[in-house]
This record gives sequence, structure tokens and C-alpha cells, in this order.
Amino acid sequence: MIKTDPVLLRQVFSNLINNAVKFSKNVENPRIKIEFKKSKQLCEFIVSDNGIGLGDHDTSRLFKIFHRAPNAKKFPGTGIGLSNCERIIILLGGSIKAEKQEVGAKFIVSIPCSNSCEIR
Ligand SMILES: Nc1ncnc2c1ncn2[C@@H]1O[C@H](COP(=O)(O)OP(=O)(O)OP(=O)(O)O)[C@@H](O)[C@H]1O
Ligand SMILES: [Mg+2]
Repeated sequence: MIKTDPVLLRQVFSNLINNAVKFSKNVENPRIKIEFKKSKQLCEFIVSDNGIGLGDHDTSRLFKIFHRAPNAKKFPGTGIGLSNCERIIILLGGSIKAEKQEVGAKFIVSIPCSNSCEIR
């Protein structure tokens, strides 16, 4: 179980799902997958899509504020969403990373299961 701030966590998922929708909407059969995996110590939330993908871009740079990959420039956005996600997840004691896939992109949020974070 994670006891955490639902408003902040919702913002993270809203950003990740909005990105997945935005960056896959022009492919023929857009698919977005949302998974939850739990081990003894870790809860993982995974959002993946079959959109434009992360190319050969350095995935860690995507979390820097205002940074957008070259293949994203024809889509609307300011490059703020993922930097907010990272800041929130660090505040909640977890981590977030992007992974390249053969097709599309994958974002993995990990939060320690025992985490009990009281904010507000
Ligand atoms: N699902 C995805 N598929 C491909 N690239 C992605 C995906 N999600 C994020 N990115 C890349 O990471 C960059 C940063 O994402 P971020 O959410 O911060 O910015 P944005 O969506 O472009 O703008 P904003 O969130 O401010 O509307 C994107 O511009 C894009 O290059
Ligand atoms: Mg975004």
C-alpha cells in the first residue's frame, strides 16, 4: 500500500497519460498501456504507448524543464510536464524513468510500497 498525496499523484498520471495520447495520436492504431506491478518493496506504475517514441535521445534529458526532443516539436507543448512529474515523484520518495521501446515510449514510476508520505 502507498499512503501518499492523491492530488500530486494524479498530476503525475495526468501528465504521463496526456503525453502518451498526444505522442501516439497520429499513428495508425494508437495503443496506450497502463500497468501496475508490485513486489515486496516497490510499487511500479508503467505507462507505455506505440507513438513516435524516444528515438536516439538521451532519455534523462526529457525530465529537464522546457526540454523537448526534436521529434516532439511538431506537437503542442512547453516541456514542463515531465519535469513536474519528476519533482513530484522525488517529493513522494520515489523515482521516474523513461525507457526506449522498439515502438513507442515507456515511463516507469517507482514508489517504495511502505512509503507513507503525508503532505499538506
Ligand atoms: N509518450 C511520449 N512519447 C514520445 N516522447 C515523449 C513522450 N512523453 C514525453 N516525451 C518527450 O519528452 C519531452 C518532455 O515531455 P513533457 O511532458 O515535459 O513536455 P511536453 O509534453 O512536450 O509539453 P507539456 O507537458 O508542457 O505540455 C516531450 O517534449 C517529448 O520530447
Ligand atoms: Mg507533456
